[in-house]
Amino acid sequence: MVNNELTSQLNKLADQIAENGFAVIDDFLSNEEIDSILALQGFKNGLLQFKKAGIGKNQDKQINEAIRGDYIQWIDPNNAEPPLLTYLDRLKQVIAFVNQSLFLSLKDCEVHQTIYPIGSFYKRHLDQFKKDDHRKLSVICYLNKDWKEADGGQLRMFIGHESKDVLPLAGRLVCFRSDLLEHEVLPATRERLSLTGWLIDKIG
Ligand code: OGA
Ligand code: MN
Repeated sequence: MVNNELTSQLNKLADQIAENGFAVIDDFLSNEEIDSILALQGFKNGLLQFKKAGIGKNQDKQINEAIRGDYIQWIDPNNAEPPLLTYLDRLKQVIAFVNQSLFLSLKDCEVHQTIYPIGSFYKRHLDQFKKDDHRKLSVICYLNKDWKEADGGQLRMFIGHESKDVLPLAGRLVCFRSDLLEHEVLPATRERLSLTGWLIDKIG
């Protein structure tokens, strides 16, 4: 059953996407939910457990380094810990809602845990692969408590000739059109943690 708080967040999300092509929703995850995600072994072991992210498929390592510096671990929905299942379940509710309100035909999501080490970044890009256009909406939920403007790490979204910066605040969900919205991640003075995912129009 979708509760009232979530229903109002989903309404805002659909309205903002329809109007601007992106949405920023605060408190999508509660403090308690974030604590239980941060307590998972993967995040506790940090970079030791995660793998350096690549770009597209089989690209050159040095090119990668110049473009993105994050470490990731894909979440296997069939073998995920309860706090991550809670998150995946909430994304399913996003899918059901935007399918109705925005007339989309999203079927599934793919999500990884993400760590940007201090000073790392992800240069301006689009989230759709050239030969694979199944990613329709990008969804990122941040896990960084007490994050300040001076810590950096903004998500910068490019909209026409303008840009909009969003801080990676704990519990905040950002959602945008994967095929249209160019964006980048600015370097930070702290490790920057998130759950990064895509709502896709095929199963798995
Ligand atoms: C990505 C990405 C943005 C962010 O992983 O493709 O653009 O704010 N992430 O973490
Ligand atoms: Mn991206």
